[in-house]
Amino acid sequence: MLEARGLTVRFGSTVAVSGVDLTIPRGPYGVGLIGESGSGKTTIGRALLGFVQPSSGSIHYAGQELPRRRVPDSYRRAVQVVLQDPDGALNPRMRIGAQIAEVLRTHRMATRAQVPGRIRELLADVDLTAEHAERFPHQLSGGQRQRVGIARALAVRPQIMILDEPTSALDVTVQARILDLFERLRREHALSYLLISHDLAVVQRLCMHTMVMYHGEIVEEGPTERVLNAPQQGYTQRLRSAVPQLPSRGHASGSAHALRGALG
Ligand SMILES: Nc1ncnc2c1ncn2[C@@H]1O[C@H](COP(=O)(O)OP(=O)(O)OP(=O)(O)O)[C@@H](O)[C@H]1O
Ligand SMILES: [Mg+2]
Repeated sequence: MLEARGLTVRFGSTVAVSGVDLTIPRGPYGVGLIGESGSGKTTIGRALLGFVQPSSGSIHYAGQELPRRRVPDSYRRAVQVVLQDPDGALNPRMRIGAQIAEVLRTHRMATRAQVPGRIRELLADVDLTAEHAERFPHQLSGGQRQRVGIARALAVRPQIMILDEPTSALDVTVQARILDLFERLRREHALSYLLISHDLAVVQRLCMHTMVMYHGEIVEEGPTERVLNAPQQGYTQRLRSAVPQLPSRGHASGSAHALRGALG
């Protein structure tokens, strides 16, 4: 559905991304992007979002080439982002409901009369209630603020979500619930995720396909199970051995289950 070919992004003399080919299939699907700090993961995400201009290469969405300069509004809606720090995207002086309403109005996703109902639906979708709409961001927990960020992304009915370290700022028990939420939303809205993460257990849980970046290039990719458990490149093996606790797939769901059990 989304295809990048030969994607290259330069910042002055720095080549942040170099000749990357990447495909994000129609959802529900998950593509993982891993690699050491500074390898170019966020830059790929920003290029796909149209926030930075590639210096060469192409991006095709639904069979159409994306123009370099003027990214169409329909594309801006189709590809949404959820970042590590939900506070960056939220206005501290606006109530949550008003911030969701703003997205609905800006993108003409609802008539004036439909807005309140749509806000309730979106909050329910991320397991919040209408009561949360009346609060300001500082009156929510970090996990709840992340849910609001996800609701705002869902407000424009996207097909693809770029998730850049979406749970790294959260406590581990909160992380597990947000991952449950990502799994449910993906199923219910047929979303495709490009998940950028240093946490290989998160990648293992959400992604069918995984790509490994090193110095701006993809050095290994394939089914997540193989890339993480039987990496062929020395670099991936080193990334993998940096997290000795990474469980096998069977154990992963078991431990998530145990964690939910412990949470009651
Ligand atoms: N706006 C910018 N201007 C100049 N250089 C940039 C800019 N954004 C990123 N870079 C450089 O591009 C390279 C890739 O950065 P990027 O943020 O994509 O890495 P990353 O893989 O997301 O790292 P991390 O895991 O730490 O988030 C780095 O060398 C970085 O310094
Ligand atoms: Mg990054």
